Amino acid sequence: MSKMLEQLFSLYGKVALITGGGRGIGQETALMLSQAGAKVAVLDRDESAAKDAVDAIVSAGGEAVVLVADVSKPEQIKQAFATALDRFGRLDILVNNAALVRRIPALETSIDVWREVMDVNLNAAFFCSCAAAEPMTAAGGGAIVNIASIMGISGGGIYPIASYHASKGGLVNLTRGLAVEWASRGIRVNAVAPTWVRTEFTKALLDDPEMSKTLLDLMPLRKFADTIDVAAAVLYLASPAAKVVTGHVLAVDGGYLAR
Ligand SMILES: NC(=O)c1ccc[n+]([C@@H]2O[C@H](COP(=O)([O-])OP(=O)(O)OC[C@H]3O[C@@H](n4cnc5c(N)ncnc54)[C@H](O)[C@@H]3O)[C@@H](O)[C@H]2O)c1
Repeated sequence: MSKMLEQLFSLYGKVALITGGGRGIGQETALMLSQAGAKVAVLDRDESAAKDAVDAIVSAGGEAVVLVADVSKPEQIKQAFATALDRFGRLDILVNNAALVRRIPALETSIDVWREVMDVNLNAAFFCSCAAAEPMTAAGGGAIVNIASIMGISGGGIYPIASYHASKGGLVNLTRGLAVEWASRGIRVNAVAPTWVRTEFTKALLDDPEMSKTLLDLMPLRKFADTIDVAAAVLYLASPAAKVVTGHVLAVDGGYLAR
């Protein structure tokens, strides 16, 4: 690879924090950002998953730390960011990735479930972004990448997930709002909107052959995304290659949104 290409995608000297980095898309992203040269803080409420993710990074020659926290608890976010800053001394990249989905009809969605989904998928992204803003400003700027979803841009219609649509739709426009507000700080804020990816999140859906075919038929490319496809989009948005890209939502969706 040419020196110019290396420089475009290099994260050497940078520090990245990934929420929900213990497994799935978050784990793949943590590993990829590490391989691009970043030191990585893997935040997850599942301690053993976060430890496994960190072990994989360290075995591959990277530097990483485990942060155990539940992002629906603002005080735990504060503590985790303080630990990351203590360890690495700076923060350049934040990936808001932790999320959950409750596939429940709107009229059967309890207040508690609605609030739980908003707390983890939307409110946590806001609180983590605010916790990142000062250290990023001190570092001369930074990059926030929010993991949204095609369900934050479309109404789905395959199974009922109103709370997920609302939380991811909110995340899409939070991306634009913070991009504009924090541009003067040198902080770029972008999102990735993936289609279905095989992880614990979607196992039950994708293991069902009929459902799997229904979903594939919604994508012109007739392919699910792999975790590495989403991680690569995050790497691009976090890297110097995207230095004038902000407020953008990058679909990694097999053409789902192009129809
Ligand atoms: N898998 C898909 O098909 C798909 C499609 C579109 C978007 N996404 C989005 O991608 C992101 C990652 O999804 P995934 O498929 O890797 O999910 P996953 O369920 O495999 O992994 C999620 C990780 O987040 C952690 N987590 C969940 N709640 C948390 C909390 N409150 N505090 C701290 N950590 C928490 C979990 O412990 C887990 O390690 C999510 O934002 C999801 O909405 C996924």
